Amino acid sequence: MSSKITFSVSLLTIFQLQLLLPVSSSLDFIFNTNFNSTNLHTYGHARIENSILALTNDTTFSIGRALYPSKVATKQPNSSTPLPFSTSFIFSIAPYKHLLPGHGFAFVFLPFVGIAGASSAQHLGLFNLTNDGDPDNHVFGVEFDVFKNQEFIDINDNHVGLDVNSLTSFASNIAGFWEGKEDEGNFKELRLNNGENYQVWIDYEDFRINVTLAKAGARRPNRALISEFLNLSGVLLAEMHVGFSAGTGQLVESHKILAWSFSNSNFSIGDALVTTHLPSFVLPKDSVFRSKGFILGVSVGGLLIMGCGVVVYMVCLKWKGKKMKDVEETEDWELEYWPHRVSYQEIHAATKGFSEENVIGLGGNGKVYKGQLLGVEVALKRISLDSEHGMREFLAEVSSLGRLKHRNLVGLRGWCKKEKESLILIYDYMENGSLDKWIFECDESIALSWEQRIKVLKDVASGILYLYEGWESKVLHRDIKASNVLLDKKMNARLGDFGLAKMHHHGQVESTTQVI
Ligand SMILES: *[C@@H]1O[C@H](CO)[C@@H](O)[C@H](O)[C@H]1NC(C)=O
Ligand SMILES: *[C@@H]1O[C@H](CO)[C@@H](O)[C@H](O)[C@H]1NC(C)=O
Ligand SMILES: *[C@@H]1O[C@H](CO)[C@@H](O)[C@H](O)[C@H]1NC(C)=O
Repeated sequence: MSSKITFSVSLLTIFQLQLLLPVSSSLDFIFNTNFNSTNLHTYGHARIENSILALTNDTTFSIGRALYPSKVATKQPNSSTPLPFSTSFIFSIAPYKHLLPGHGFAFVFLPFVGIAGASSAQHLGLFNLTNDGDPDNHVFGVEFDVFKNQEFIDINDNHVGLDVNSLTSFASNIAGFWEGKEDEGNFKELRLNNGENYQVWIDYEDFRINVTLAKAGARRPNRALISEFLNLSGVLLAEMHVGFSAGTGQLVESHKILAWSFSNSNFSIGDALVTTHLPSFVLPKDSVFRSKGFILGVSVGGLLIMGCGVVVYMVCLKWKGKKMKDVEETEDWELEYWPHRVSYQEIHAATKGFSEENVIGLGGNGKVYKGQLLGVEVALKRISLDSEHGMREFLAEVSSLGRLKHRNLVGLRGWCKKEKESLILIYDYMENGSLDKWIFECDESIALSWEQRIKVLKDVASGILYLYEGWESKVLHRDIKASNVLLDKKMNARLGDFGLAKMHHHGQVESTTQVI
């Protein structure tokens, strides 16, 4: 990337003055391709390269955040009313050749710095499986998301959404803009991750938020892409960190911020962003000629044009080979499946390499391990299947069952594929183990009381009722027994192990004849 980078005078003096005030109720800043380690703090894989913010790196499951160095006031002094703000930024999301692209980034207000409690992939470095949706998050974000996640009810794989404490956006729209006048015109979709530079304007005043998107350099569209009533009083704290967050998963792409402005009073501050002479991150048609291998080949080869050809060819082959191998690990169909796919390396680390000391049980299909994944205790169960076809069918079913959520079912958190025929399912860890131990193996001093036993029966019954009636399909568990009833920390009983479950549409006659 050798493009000319334009610097412009940032309003340093203004914000330095602001920082001297104890509670600044108004702040302005503008960065025009002049980010550095003092004007922006980076966390995780985020870094500043050539004065441009790169949020993620080119590895799988990368997380990056970048925040303005100090907190900004987001409420009127001594009041719960949110301060108005106007922010604008220029971003580029670019795919890498031979890699499937994902997942996106968000402009965010956060209560703290760092990346604690954040997951990569579809969580965009913002939330994790447990805290998504928690009102105590105090997070407001505007997401630019290029993957359709069923669990977050995403509308498509190219959308902009408003996220209040959750990646399930409370409002979203296909990425694009309205041409023409405010009350008419055509909608034009913009592909978020084609490498183009786009400008975004986010304005908030009198409880209304407007988000507008356009190609960098184009005039600001008259009509906003998203315009919603939004009461942020309960979401924002008096002062918040403001910045950006992004994540990659098995799907990898670059997320860059080139310029950024913010103000609590000047709603035309976005006009001060320089949109000319910006570097371009659009992949050329045949990006082999842009690869490091090619550049290296040329400079090393020098006059030896013949030799150069060979070097390029070999370097490219190797590069391609490496990337192709990464892709091979995930097949397209796997990406549709919910919930979270976790890499084998993560599972390996979580169970200390499937060490014997982590074994907490033996199931029909193999051992059950205890592990720590993203700071949360989980139970991991290995399952062997007889064919890849079997795996596919099984995953389709698991991905549906994974959406079943009930206080009397053991939650399925994710899965991991190891080779073609072995699967690891990740469940919530149940502190008090399985019911059979409490009934058949315990000495009398800690045996369950009759009250506890009745509660267990009621819990199991309500779990079964949910499986039968509470969902769009009827789920027959087919293996209800004491060892499949787990007890959580508070001794609530939960039905586990959906390995044998079958789904039926309501009204459909059960055709299985095998007795279970
Ligand atoms: C990307 O992340 C990996 C893993 O943390 C790290 O080893 C590597 O240096 C990073 N690459 C860049 C360019 O920062
Ligand atoms: C948002 O857009 C609406 C409709 O165009 C407009 O009336 C309102 O003033 C805008 N609000 C902000 C904060 O820009
Ligand atoms: C916003 O929410 C707060 C409580 O969180 C409430 O007190 C206030 O009346 C709401 N404002 C509007 C305009 O709805």
